[in-house]
Amino acid sequence: MCGIVGYIGTKEAYPILIKGLKRLEYRGYDSAGVALIGENQHLNVYKAKGKVSELEDFALQKDTSGNIGIAHTRWATHGEPCSANAHPHYSSSESLALIHNGIIENYSVLKDKLQSKGFAFKSTTDTEVLVQLIEYIKQTNNLDLLTAVQLALKEVIGAYAIAVLEKDNPDTIIAARKSSPLVVGVGNDEMFLASDATPIVEYTDQVVYLKDEEIAVLKKGEPLKIVDLHNVEITPEVKTVVLSLGQLEKGGYPHFMLKEIFEQPDCIFDCMRGRINVESDNITLSAVIDHKDKLLNAKRFIIVACGTSWHAALIGKQLIENFCRIPVEVEYASEFRYRNPVIDSNDVVIAISQSGETADTLAAIELAKSKGAFIYGICNSVGSSIPRVTDTGSYIHVGPEIGVASTKAFTGQVTVLAMLALTLAKEKQTIDKNEYLSIVKELSSIPEKMKDVLELNGEIAELSKIFTYAHNFIYLGRGFLFPVALEGALKLKEISYIHAEGYPAAEMKHGPIALIDAEMPVVVIATHNALYEKVLSNIQEIKARKGKVIAIVNKGDNVISKIADYCIELPTTIECLDPLITTIPLQLLAYHIAACKGLDVDQPRNLAKSVTVE
Ligand code: M6R
Repeated sequence: MCGIVGYIGTKEAYPILIKGLKRLEYRGYDSAGVALIGENQHLNVYKAKGKVSELEDFALQKDTSGNIGIAHTRWATHGEPCSANAHPHYSSSESLALIHNGIIENYSVLKDKLQSKGFAFKSTTDTEVLVQLIEYIKQTNNLDLLTAVQLALKEVIGAYAIAVLEKDNPDTIIAARKSSPLVVGVGNDEMFLASDATPIVEYTDQVVYLKDEEIAVLKKGEPLKIVDLHNVEITPEVKTVVLSLGQLEKGGYPHFMLKEIFEQPDCIFDCMRGRINVESDNITLSAVIDHKDKLLNAKRFIIVACGTSWHAALIGKQLIENFCRIPVEVEYASEFRYRNPVIDSNDVVIAISQSGETADTLAAIELAKSKGAFIYGICNSVGSSIPRVTDTGSYIHVGPEIGVASTKAFTGQVTVLAMLALTLAKEKQTIDKNEYLSIVKELSSIPEKMKDVLELNGEIAELSKIFTYAHNFIYLGRGFLFPVALEGALKLKEISYIHAEGYPAAEMKHGPIALIDAEMPVVVIATHNALYEKVLSNIQEIKARKGKVIAIVNKGDNVISKIADYCIELPTTIECLDPLITTIPLQLLAYHIAACKGLDVDQPRNLAKSVTVE
């Protein structure tokens, strides 16, 4: 939610900031703005409603000179998306400009206090309160900017990643974080600031991930300085970030989402690389080796996650319970954090998150930690907040996911969960050796089978054209494929704005069947597994009510193909790995329907890639 960029050095800041904002646009795109200290020593702020390109148009004839600046792309929390609410926000005297990602929860109390002191506000945001508070503290006590920021942040309740520029201090950016991500890039005679490393990697691979309540002082000609709120100096921990520019480009695809769908065979291969030994059909997960006792003696696993990651968790539950015979509960992180759950040191909490920054998942982890549970993270974004607060974990290694709709992260999460379940089951001896070997072997063949599924892209694109009319969709699946139905429905909803619901196929007769008529497309995932016959009956029930069935079946299925309206034929795999194969046609279906409707697939309305506010 919201992207932050900053630059200080010898180059022109504006083009670097704009390019950085474009890389971070996936975090929010309802307005954008930039603040620069120009050659004329003015603190210039330009902002526009809409995407970064609108800001570029707006700033065309303006003075964008200067080698120090901060910029922001917004996902609105407090205050509607409009130019006045866009960041940066000036302080009253216009001597300070501030950008912010997060929420100032006590903004209204602070605003009342500042208004009573004569401060006027131009926006309805919580952020403007913070910049005014800094100015108030600075002026009343005649303090330098750093001290004023430290004092102001002590008064703030909430989450923040901020950067502040001061007109009379044109060589310094002050930045700070609490519960919202912030990375400093350290180059030669220049420093960068960003919500993640993607705007920075083009210039330097040396980065410092700020920790909570750390304040970074980026000063021209001086090394990076980090202090805490009490001004105690902290030695910056410089890390080398491994990210190639190619991973951040569309690479010839019309959208990141399509590129990311097509990357899945390679991603899943990378996810298993070094973990699955193809010669011995053995899995090695370092997190399990390092924390064997804790994991094997767990009385229960609780998986917390949101959105697509929560769907992966539902598959993880079935994998772990099936193979390890350990009870697993799956919780929405947002509910778990507020419901006083029964949890103790015998529990292992698995937190799943692509971004590693989801506020609800982070809060769920904190709660579980406070009750003594052991925390295992499954994340994609290296160096993000969740891997830093967990006891151990496994990265999914699928590379940056930029399209707002999650695709390759889902299959990466399911792959890691499968490897985790199999590894624990082998250690606990709850799985038969031959079964273990055959599943591991099959897992290694998944990337090749995914390539076969992607061959169906053209066919699915054609099929999608038929359904652009639809206002509703139903997705049905059973067992391991019920979460796939949920995921298919979520993909369609978020990018095509078509209402879609996923159900366990057998639940249909308990209500949703009332919705079926000749206008209702029903996607049924009906690959050949133990419940095939049952799902076949569900298809009959839909056809008897004239619903339009799009069946996802295995190659050579000549039963369902005779009754379904449309069939997508997939390679066969074993039941527990079927989500890795069956999800792909649903991703493609959602993608092509949205693309056919001419919608903004990568940046759908109202959404943001990483939800760093609750
Ligand atoms: O980064 P996370 O995995 O924690 O994100 C969780 C959800 O916000 C995310 O999966 C969201 O539902 C996606 N837009 C789904 O495509």
